Amino acid sequence: MEHREPVEFDDAANTGRRDADRPVLVTGGTGTLGRRVVRRLSAKGRAVRVLSRRPRPAGDREPYDWATGDLSTGEGIDAAVEGVGAIVHCATTIGRGDVAATRRLVDAVRRSGGGPHLVHISIVGVDRVPFVYYRAKLATERIVAGAGLPWSILRATQFHDLIARIVDAQRRLPVTLALGGVRFQPVDAGEVADRLAALVVGGPAGRVPDMGGPQVRDHRELTRTTLRARGRRRPVLPLRLPGAVFRAYREGGHLTPDHAVGRVTYDEYLAARTPPAG
Ligand SMILES: NC(=O)c1ccc[n+]([C@@H]2O[C@H](COP(=O)([O-])OP(=O)(O)OC[C@H]3O[C@@H](n4cnc5c(N)ncnc54)[C@H](OP(=O)(O)O)[C@@H]3O)[C@@H](O)[C@H]2O)c1
Repeated sequence: MEHREPVEFDDAANTGRRDADRPVLVTGGTGTLGRRVVRRLSAKGRAVRVLSRRPRPAGDREPYDWATGDLSTGEGIDAAVEGVGAIVHCATTIGRGDVAATRRLVDAVRRSGGGPHLVHISIVGVDRVPFVYYRAKLATERIVAGAGLPWSILRATQFHDLIARIVDAQRRLPVTLALGGVRFQPVDAGEVADRLAALVVGGPAGRVPDMGGPQVRDHRELTRTTLRARGRRRPVLPLRLPGAVFRAYREGGHLTPDHAVGRVTYDEYLAARTPPAG
């Protein structure tokens, strides 16, 4: 499938004035991806409502509205979806809970009587890698596509942040573990946010072309690069794990080399976050 370039936000013609004037609810609007989506939509003058389980931090003067709610219990979700023109669903409970959470979100929309555009973020390879989290994400895609509402679904590869976080989480170990024989194609979360914001503006598009980072790189090498950028000296130990999940990773089920549309490389991501020496 052909990759479509992000469209500009002044293109309200596709969605019609009414939807463009209504707030966009960003679930997970405090997370790695969601907060970038919020920033991009706000910067273009769209009214945004952030959904979080926490109350709005004191002193937060950003130009968005805030809804406190929990997709695991349903508390606050009816109020959060009230009157929205679109929902960018970036919340994740990192587990099977995502299926029930997405169902709760869709049920609340139905109760509200509105018909917002659901923009959903998923992961490349959810139908190829039999990882329990991916299976749940695949189920969430089906809920979104089957909700009877206008929808768009984007699958992205792993964010640069995730690759770095896996290394940083091991900072107290004498060695750093990496997945042997596994490559990743990390993508910049900001670029994924750009794409999601463009989907909000462009209107319902169904399943859009996958989005991957610019380079496919061995996990060992990515790990070494991260350690170097952090100034940490550690041996990297490749782990070759058994089972269907890791076999699927080794076979590259989570990669999309034909859609290497991200521009920011992992090295550039690291460089932007490493304080200059001295
Ligand atoms: N990370 C990756 O490499 C990657 C790659 C491709 C796709 N994705 C997908 O992108 C999405 C966002 O990932 P991320 O890495 O940005 O996630 P993240 O940083 O872990 O953020 C998760 C967000 O979900 C919210 N959340 C968690 N439980 C919730 C609940 N019960 N009710 C309401 N909100 C809840 C959190 O908000 P509060 O804590 O404020 O409540 C937080 O904002 C996920 O769907 C993920 O599958 C991620």
